[in-house]
This record gives sequence, structure tokens and C-alpha cells, in this order.
Amino acid sequence: MDVITAPSEPLLFLSRVSKTCLRQKCIVIFALVCCFAVLVALIFSAVDVWGEDEDGITEENCSKNCRIALVENIPEDVSFSDNGTAHVPLSVGLHTLLDLANRSVEIVSSHWALNSTDPEASGSFAKQGRLLLQRLQGLETRAVSLKVASGLTESAELRGLEDHGAEVHYLNMTALTKGHLNSSFWVVDRKHLYIGSASMDWRSLSKMKELGVVIFNCSCLALDLHRIFSLYWQLQYKDFVPSIWSKRVTALYNKDRALPVLLNGTKANVYVSSSPDVFCPKDRTRDIDAIFRMIQDARRFVYISIRDYLPLINRVPHRYWSRIDGMIREALILRGIKVRLLISCWKQTHPLTFNFVWSLKSLCMERDNCSLEVKFFSLRDQRNGTARGINHNKYMVTDSAVYIGNFDWVGNEFAYNAGAGLVISQVQGQEERNATVVEQVKAVFERDWYSHYTKTLQADKVPECSKHKASQAPRPKTAS
Ligand SMILES: *[C@@H]1O[C@H](CO)[C@@H](O)[C@H](O)[C@H]1NC(C)=O
Ligand SMILES: *[C@@H]1O[C@H](CO)[C@@H](O)[C@H](O)[C@H]1NC(C)=O
Ligand SMILES: *[C@@H]1O[C@H](CO)[C@@H](O)[C@H](O)[C@H]1NC(C)=O
Ligand SMILES: *[C@@H]1O[C@H](CO)[C@@H](O)[C@H](O)[C@H]1NC(C)=O
Ligand SMILES: *[C@@H]1O[C@H](CO)[C@@H](O)[C@H](O)[C@H]1NC(C)=O
Ligand SMILES: *[C@@H]1O[C@H](CO)[C@@H](O)[C@H](O)[C@H]1NC(C)=O
Ligand SMILES: *[C@@H]1O[C@H](CO)[C@@H](O)[C@H](O)[C@H]1NC(C)=O
Ligand SMILES: *[C@@H]1O[C@H](CO)[C@@H](O)[C@H](O)[C@H]1NC(C)=O
Ligand SMILES: *[C@@H]1O[C@H](CO)[C@@H](O)[C@H](O)[C@H]1NC(C)=O
Ligand SMILES: *[C@@H]1O[C@H](CO)[C@@H](O)[C@H](O)[C@H]1NC(C)=O
Ligand SMILES: *[C@@H]1O[C@H](CO)[C@@H](O)[C@H](O)[C@H]1NC(C)=O
Repeated sequence: MDVITAPSEPLLFLSRVSKTCLRQKCIVIFALVCCFAVLVALIFSAVDVWGEDEDGITEENCSKNCRIALVENIPEDVSFSDNGTAHVPLSVGLHTLLDLANRSVEIVSSHWALNSTDPEASGSFAKQGRLLLQRLQGLETRAVSLKVASGLTESAELRGLEDHGAEVHYLNMTALTKGHLNSSFWVVDRKHLYIGSASMDWRSLSKMKELGVVIFNCSCLALDLHRIFSLYWQLQYKDFVPSIWSKRVTALYNKDRALPVLLNGTKANVYVSSSPDVFCPKDRTRDIDAIFRMIQDARRFVYISIRDYLPLINRVPHRYWSRIDGMIREALILRGIKVRLLISCWKQTHPLTFNFVWSLKSLCMERDNCSLEVKFFSLRDQRNGTARGINHNKYMVTDSAVYIGNFDWVGNEFAYNAGAGLVISQVQGQEERNATVVEQVKAVFERDWYSHYTKTLQADKVPECSKHKASQAPRPKTAS
């Protein structure tokens, strides 16, 4: 009997245990196991299971001895009296990058219209665009991979590139941020890069005035910009932004930990910034914070060249967007920084622009050490009034740094659109003063500022830029 009852007792015990367990502990344990499984799944999704190769270059052995060239597109019929600021043409800079490409070319652009059927895109205007498109199509035959991240869901040009071996990832920005993909940069072989105002549009290579930089042999910086590209790449077909990002897209450098490099042999600190907030994983500096830091660090002046300036969230409900406006006010009134705003005068200049810059200007009324100057840049033909091109520049330069971004300074852009920026800080060397890129951008700004294409903001007179009537202006609700 002992032999029989002995095993039955543990069985009874077990069954009793399992009964109580079922009722209480097991539920808890089961829940814990479920939580653990979910956690493991989350960790794996955040760690990148597909493991993309990074060409064996890491943050430890990447190159920091870089060369930089300022690239500009100056429309053919625009001439400046100052020849000292002639820079590498944008098309030459981009073609040089394609010449160097050995493995991969990664491109983000808000537009794709290199081979336009627009009747305006005729003759010499369209030539550079077609040439660039041909080069991009030709990458396949050189066994160089072309990757494009785009917010355009319908683009014949991108489909054409796909036929030539390009990989295109579409981002549904409407679903992700209710905005647009306005980023504009290239990463070539994770070594060279371009960032600037120009997009892959025939106008950017002909009629628009554009400014950007091409940086060679700079794998440290290229790796970080590539991480912004990777972030876009992972968002293909997603209709929500993940709350945890892969480690491969977290920032390597930022405003508090900039990358020390040599640019043409001159010491500089650089980092890239990104927008909007939800596209900024751990450690990535937002564009607005990069701009804030730069204005804060300025000692003497802040020069800003942008197409549009509008401190509004210009969609229903309209809201005042104080970030940049507030920074400028603080710099003017509290720190006596000299501020110059160069804004484009073009057919879509918002009428409230003038009111906002006037309000900045009146801040300095009857105050010493407060200087705000505003000029409007217009490429309109003086004789018959035909608009020829637009100053599409998007940069800021101070006494010690330059920021080259993808956005106009409009609230909507920073709030909803995707964009990137590059900050270069350089302490002025006493000797080779105009050798630094910061000095060169300052010279570009001054060339434009003093050129005959600008008009000074005049009291009680709105320059004729826009076809908008003042009555069409939205009435912003007072901010709560
Ligand atoms: C860089 O370092 C990684 C490992 O840290 C190594 O695998 C790779 O070969 C190195 N690359 C170069 C170009 O030295
Ligand atoms: C600038 O260069 C152009 C052609 O290279 C020349 O025709 C023009 O006279 C120069 N202008 C000045 C002010 O030197
Ligand atoms: C690409 O780079 C590799 C090694 O860095 C080199 O061996 C090869 O010749 C290069 N190819 C081209 C087309 O430059
Ligand atoms: C540009 O478009 C025209 C007509 O649409 C076409 O014939 C031509 O091949 C295109 N060029 C390129 C480089 O794709
Ligand atoms: C993008 O997302 C929006 C909103 O979720 C949806 O209405 C639209 O159909 C999507 N577009 C594409 C091309 O998937
Ligand atoms: C951003 O992209 C949208 C859609 O492509 C475009 O309408 C808008 O003009 C772009 N903004 C800038 C600053 O390029
Ligand atoms: C980049 O570095 C390589 C090797 O270090 C050098 O041969 C090449 O000329 C450099 N390119 C530029 C544009 O400085
Ligand atoms: C203006 O600024 C200069 C230099 O920062 C200073 O020396 C001067 O006293 C200031 N003037 C006034 C009225 O604050
Ligand atoms: C305006 O003048 C420019 C030359 O100054 C000329 O090229 C252009 O065709 C003219 N446009 C019109 C509409 O007359
Ligand atoms: C800056 O460059 C200009 C023209 O390239 C030259 O004339 C001038 O001497 C340079 N200035 C300094 C300080 O090197
Ligand atoms: C750096 O050097 C390159 C040539 O190697 C030159 O084209 C470029 O203008 C230089 N950049 C600066 C900022 O001086």
C-alpha cells in the first residue's frame, strides 16, 4: 500500500498546488511571462535584426580629415559685382560626388523633377537637370547602388530610376507627421556628403539661387548623416512613428558633443540636426535647438538668409509660433547682437511676413546697441517686372558658426516636416581669415546683402512681392 500511496500523495499535492496556482500565482506568472516576451520582442525590434553592413568603418576609425567646398547655384542672368566669392557650381559639386561614388549613393529630396515636361523647362534651363538624371541612371552600370528616400507617392521620375536599378523607399508623411519630407542631402559611400537648399529639381540647377556644402573624405560625419537616412529608410509604408528607435539610428554627435574635424586643414566642430521632434531619436539635436544654440553662442552678429520668415503655424487652427521670433528678440534686446534678415520677395511671400519683421524692427526703436536690419531679395526684372528666379537659400551665419538647413523659417516646417541641418563652428584664425567656410558664407551673405537685387524694408510700405491681398491673411487666434 505504501508503494501505491506514496506517489499518489505528491500527485494530490501537485494537483492541489496547481489548483491554487491556477487561481492566483499562475495568472501572475503567466502575465509576467507575457510581459517578458513582449519586452524581448521590443528589444529585438529596436536592435535591428536585419543587420545592415556599415562598410567596416566605425566611429573609432572613421576619417576626420575632411575637405569642404561651398556649392552654389547662381542663375545665369544674375551677376554680382563681387567676383571674390565665386564658388563651386552646385552641378559641378554633385557631379564630383557621382565621380567619386564607388559603392553607394543615398539621396533624400523633397522634389524629383530633373527631367521636367514643364514648358518653362526648355533649352539651356533644363540641360543640367537632364544631365544629372542621366548620371544617376548610369550608376547601375558602374555597380554603384542608388537609394532614394522620398515622400512622393506618385513620381514617374522615381519609377524611371527604379527601372535603372535604384531602390526607392516611400514615406507616407501624411500618416507619419501630417507634413512633408523636405530633407535634402546626399551620402556617398558613407564618406562624402552634400547638404543644402537645392532639391532634385531642374530649377535648383538653373533658375533658383541655392547654397549648400559638399564635404569629402569625412566618414565620421557621413556615418551620422547616414543614420538620418537610415531612419527614413525604415519608415517605408509605416503609418506611425515608432516610439523606440533602432540603435543604428541614434545620433553619434550633437550640440553637446560635436565632432571635431579638420576642414581643409582648419579645425572645426560639426554635427547634424534633424526635424521634426518625432524623427529625433536619443541624442539627436533638433534643428530648432541647433538654431537656438547658435544664436546663443553668437557674440557680435547673426545673419540669416531664407526664402520665407513666418512665425506662425499656418494651418487651422492658426497659432503664433514663438520659438525663433523669441530667440531673435532676446538676442536683440538683451544681448545687443546685430541681426540681419535677408528674405526672398516672391509671389508666395506671405503678407504677414512684413508685419512680423516690422514688429521686430520696432523693438529696436530708440535703443542703442540694438540693430535689426531687414532686406528683401528679388530677382524680378527691373524693367518689365518678370520674375526670373528665387533666392532659395536657407542658412544662418554668425561670428563663429554656420547652419545650413533644409527649411524656411516658417512654424509649419519645424513642427511637421522632415528636414536636416548641418552646423559648423570655427573659431576664427587670425591668419588665413577668409579660408574658413564660416568666413566664406559670411562673404556670400554680404555679397547678396549689398547687391542690387535687395530692397530695404521701408516704413509703411509693403514691397510688391506677393499677389496675396492683405485681406486673405489668416487671423491668428491669440495664443493661450
Ligand atoms: C574599423 O574598425 C572595425 C572594428 O572596430 C573593423 O572591423 C574595420 O575593419 C575597421 N575599418 C578600417 C577601415 O580600418
Ligand atoms: C567678374 O568676372 C567677370 C567674368 O569673369 C568679368 O566680366 C567682370 O568684369 C568681373 N567683375 C568685377 C567687378 O571684377
Ligand atoms: C572601390 O574601392 C575599392 C577599395 O576601396 C577599390 O579596390 C576599387 O578599385 C574601387 N572601385 C572604383 C570603381 O573606384
Ligand atoms: C526626359 O524626358 C524625355 C521625354 O519625356 C525623354 O525622351 C528622355 O529620355 C528623358 N531623359 C532622361 C535622362 O530620362
Ligand atoms: C497615407 O496615409 C494616409 C492617412 O493614414 C492615407 O489616407 C493615405 O491613403 C496614405 N497614402 C498612401 C499612398 O498610402
Ligand atoms: C516641402 O515639401 C512640399 C511638398 O513636396 C513642398 O510643397 C514645399 O514647398 C517644401 N518646402 C520647402 C521649404 O521646400
Ligand atoms: C580623400 O582621401 C584620399 C586618400 O586619403 C585622397 O587620395 C583623396 O585625394 C582625398 N579626396 C579629396 C577630395 O580630398
Ligand atoms: C554698446 O555696446 C558696447 C560694446 O558691447 C558698449 O561698450 C557700450 O557701452 C554699449 N552702449 C550702450 C549704450 O549700452
Ligand atoms: C523682360 O526682359 C528680359 C530682359 O531684360 C527679357 O529676357 C524677357 O523676355 C522680358 N520679358 C517680358 C515678358 O517681356
Ligand atoms: C581673402 O581672399 C581675397 C580674394 O580671394 C584676397 O584678396 C584677400 O587678400 C584675402 N584675405 C585674407 C585676409 O587672406
Ligand atoms: C577646400 O579645398 C578645396 C580644394 O581642395 C577647395 O575647392 C575649396 O574651396 C576649399 N574650401 C574652403 C572652405 O576653402
